Amino acid sequence: MAAFNETIAQAYAVQGASIDLGRGVLDDKLVSDAVVLLPLATMNRHGLIAGATGTGKTRTLQLIAEQLSDAGVSVFAADYKGDLSGLSQAGAADGPAPKRMADLGLPYQPTAYPVEFLSLGGIGDGVPVRATVTDFGPELLGKVLSANETQEQTLALLFRFADERGFGLVDLADLRALLTYLGSDAGKADLTGIGGVSSATIGVLLRSLVELEDGGGKEFFGEPLFEIADLMRTAADGRGIISCLELSAIQDKPALFSTALMWLLAELFEQLPEVGDLDKPKLVFFFDEAHLLFADATKSFLESVERTVRMIRSKGVGVFFVTQAPTDVPSAVLGQLGARVQHALRAFTPEDADALKKTVRTYPTSEFYDLEKLITSVGTGEAVVTILSEKGVPTPVVHTRLRAPRSSMSTASGIAAAAAASSLAVKYGTRLEKESAAEQLAQRVQQAPAAPADQPAAPKHESKAKQASDPLTDFLGSRQGKTLQREVIRGAFSLLRKRL
Ligand SMILES: Nc1ncnc2c1ncn2[C@@H]1O[C@H](COP(=O)(O)OP(=O)(O)O)[C@@H](O)[C@H]1O
Ligand SMILES: [Mg+2]
Repeated sequence: MAAFNETIAQAYAVQGASIDLGRGVLDDKLVSDAVVLLPLATMNRHGLIAGATGTGKTRTLQLIAEQLSDAGVSVFAADYKGDLSGLSQAGAADGPAPKRMADLGLPYQPTAYPVEFLSLGGIGDGVPVRATVTDFGPELLGKVLSANETQEQTLALLFRFADERGFGLVDLADLRALLTYLGSDAGKADLTGIGGVSSATIGVLLRSLVELEDGGGKEFFGEPLFEIADLMRTAADGRGIISCLELSAIQDKPALFSTALMWLLAELFEQLPEVGDLDKPKLVFFFDEAHLLFADATKSFLESVERTVRMIRSKGVGVFFVTQAPTDVPSAVLGQLGARVQHALRAFTPEDADALKKTVRTYPTSEFYDLEKLITSVGTGEAVVTILSEKGVPTPVVHTRLRAPRSSMSTASGIAAAAAASSLAVKYGTRLEKESAAEQLAQRVQQAPAAPADQPAAPKHESKAKQASDPLTDFLGSRQGKTLQREVIRGAFSLLRKRL
């Protein structure tokens, strides 16, 4: 035992500030002086919280978020089931939380935390987070449309075309109008001009757009655009604000939210300055249901995710992926996650057993545990932990009984009221209504005579035709000078590529 105590206490000791995760366990016995600390200085080296349903992932996220907030670090967390909302309320006086703290021999201090509730486009409760189609960029849009490489490339060409013509793609109606236009007789010349885009692909994209429109895209895409700085705030008392993106109302629309989370991450990467390694991160971003991000992704998309995760470290942002099995995360990403909090994994099927073996191989070897056995047998609210020490060295694996959160482990009440009372509600609460440009373009398409393909569509009024010689420019003229206009199409990921 002595060897265990000393090894763990030494390996996890820190000079600077840290998160207290819990206490070590050996042979089913709690070892009080095996204190398991996660240094704030290595939290920009990212992490993984994994485990089967009901094993304690959300509570681990919650207790880490609380201590980050206490340390003045802002937190962003996707609240997939709504059960993280309890962060805004003090924990219960009895029940599993005080019981756990008593078991650990630690004081239990129920505490409410400063929480900002967000939602995607106002679906469900929370201040609406919106993005314009232009801001989202072709690569992320391709992902959310389940586009293949060809379709993704087509989107990139269309975005560039729209940009050259000054056509701000704000919402999905704009994108639909553009696709419809290019697929029509009126847009034929423009389509040919773009080059490398087939009308068949335009048709496929139009069809896949329907699903996105119904899957929350109508609400999410639009203005005002959410500003990343609003995720990096601290409360008046100095604690970091925890932004909870409430997703329970769109659980049945997974395609959108995983991509929207990636968009936020890409925005953070683009907009934050280089800071190198800090004493503590500026923001920690918890990416829940991470498997959705990687499922069916194209190779280039995965490469972009991998790069973003690798490079965001120097911007002082830590990313923690939360998912069921580590094998949900591609190895190029997994290899960059310094901290591992592995809750129990089940091994029912041969596939499970395989995943378990693979998982064990990604851990340092342990002189104290049989890892395969340990990972399948740790209790609820316990985990198999290894992190990066302040020196950047992986720590020995320790079976950890985690602390309980101080805030409520139940879903909070009054989320809608809290969001309505937030200062951000003034800024983002109401969708910015734009001129119905998309409708105008749709009209153009309708009015275009079924002229021979090589003849440009006849403009409706001579006078108008003099000002603008082609239907798209004509139509787009109405948008010039609008805030929606962006100098460059900077699809987050494309920009990242250019920089490299
Ligand atoms: N650290 C913890 N302290 C006390 N109870 C916990 C802890 N972790 C998990 N539990 C108990 O287990 C339940 C399920 O945990 P949860 O985090 O919701 O699982 P998951 O997110 O993996 O599905 C909690 O509601 C709580 O009762
Ligand atoms: Mg959970």
